[in-house]
Amino acid sequence: MVRLLITAIILVSFSKGGDIYHQNCVNCHKIYGPSLKKLFFDYLLVYSSERRVKKALFEYMKNPDPKKSLMPKEYIRQNGVKKPSKLSDEALKKAIDSYWNRYKVIGKIK
Ligand code: HEC
Repeated sequence: MVRLLITAIILVSFSKGGDIYHQNCVNCHKIYGPSLKKLFFDYLLVYSSERRVKKALFEYMKNPDPKKSLMPKEYIRQNGVKKPSKLSDEALKKAIDSYWNRYKVIGKIK
């Protein structure tokens, strides 16, 4: 019964979609991370298309590589890169989708 309840709670919190993005990405970035908004546009400038931005984000979160980082070199030299994401591939994809939907400009410009 307890297990069922916990599963239900987890399912409900995950099905809210954007919540993984807020609980994971936003919560940490508020404290340690640089501006998610600024980073989004840095990624958009470099990778241009939705598919390529999402792919680059996914790969960086899985395996943060100082050579691929778009952060200022000085920042990386002082702080290093972050740890690989603990999210499952599925959850990470959802978080990135929410991130994209939050800041995408395509479709908003009329
Ligand atoms: C535990 C804290 C933490 C979590 C969770 C986290 N980040 Fe970060 N993130 C950081 C820090 C610190 C940096 C700067 C260091 C770096 O670039 O590796 C960073 C860098 C980034 C960058 C720039 C990468 C680069 O260097 O080019 C992006 C984009 C980003 N985060 C997006 C996200 C998204 C999307 C999520 C959720 C899936 C997320 N972050 C989750 C702490 C976090």
